[in-house]
Amino acid sequence: MMTNNTDNIFNGLYAQSYNAFYDKKDYSGECGIIENFLNKYATSKTHDILDAGCGTGNHSIILTKRGYNMVGVDKSQTMINNAKNFASELNFDIDFVQSDLRNLQLGKKFNACISMFAVLSYMISDTDVNNYLKSIRQHLLPGSLFIFDFWYGPGVINISPSMRVKLIEQNGSEIYRLANPIINQNDHTCKIKFVVIQVKNTQVQDSQIEVHNCRYFFEDELKSFFHKNKFELKSLHGFPNVSTEPTKNTWNALGIAIAI
Ligand SMILES: C[S@@+](CC[C@H](N)C(=O)[O-])C[C@H]1O[C@@H](n2cnc3c(N)ncnc32)[C@H](O)[C@@H]1O
Repeated sequence: MMTNNTDNIFNGLYAQSYNAFYDKKDYSGECGIIENFLNKYATSKTHDILDAGCGTGNHSIILTKRGYNMVGVDKSQTMINNAKNFASELNFDIDFVQSDLRNLQLGKKFNACISMFAVLSYMISDTDVNNYLKSIRQHLLPGSLFIFDFWYGPGVINISPSMRVKLIEQNGSEIYRLANPIINQNDHTCKIKFVVIQVKNTQVQDSQIEVHNCRYFFEDELKSFFHKNKFELKSLHGFPNVSTEPTKNTWNALGIAIAI
């Protein structure tokens, strides 16, 4: 299995349009879910949270407003720049750091970590997954919660990805995003070719292709990855409906792990 080369993704037009593509995503509701799990399982009050794969900083900004100290890390410099701009428009002082999570060295420990919107699924090889979990664990105090969502194997296989088109309007342009997924059941991955085209009136202003390779996971393998990296995988839930366990109709599942 190849290691994921994420050097050229979440860049350019794709990254510039990211917040507009996901403006219907309920980041505030997700932060509510995160807070509920922190209140339920954390052994002491949570102050310092690492946002691993923070993207444009949507969770970090909302959780800062709710009183947490956030540090956001992302591999993409463009996403980090967007997060910094977003925070400075709101006069928030949040540390957004460009780094690969598989080799993170912040020299600081947190009492929780979130890694939301399938960041784990960007870890393709077993080595990627182990390095990502090892790095995160090194930044957590024992007893800390790790909350993450990921592509849930039984759901991905049952639902099976299909071609999707999104259209958004941004600064007087139309931006079309075509997502063409190809699943590979041999290595539990799905390559999605994103074709992004910016159109003003009848002229193409800009275009870009990004290929994202995402891995889907099954409960047993996750348990063993987490155990190996000194976490206990506490529970899996549907996401965003966390009141049930994931089923074969669940594409995205939420996991709760505790640093041991
Ligand atoms: C789908 S986005 C999610 C962003 C954000 N958490 C959100 O909820 O909007 C996945 C993010 O993971 C980041 N990412 C993927 N692999 C990474 C790695 N090895 N190290 C750090 N960030 C990574 C990408 O750059 C991207 O910003």
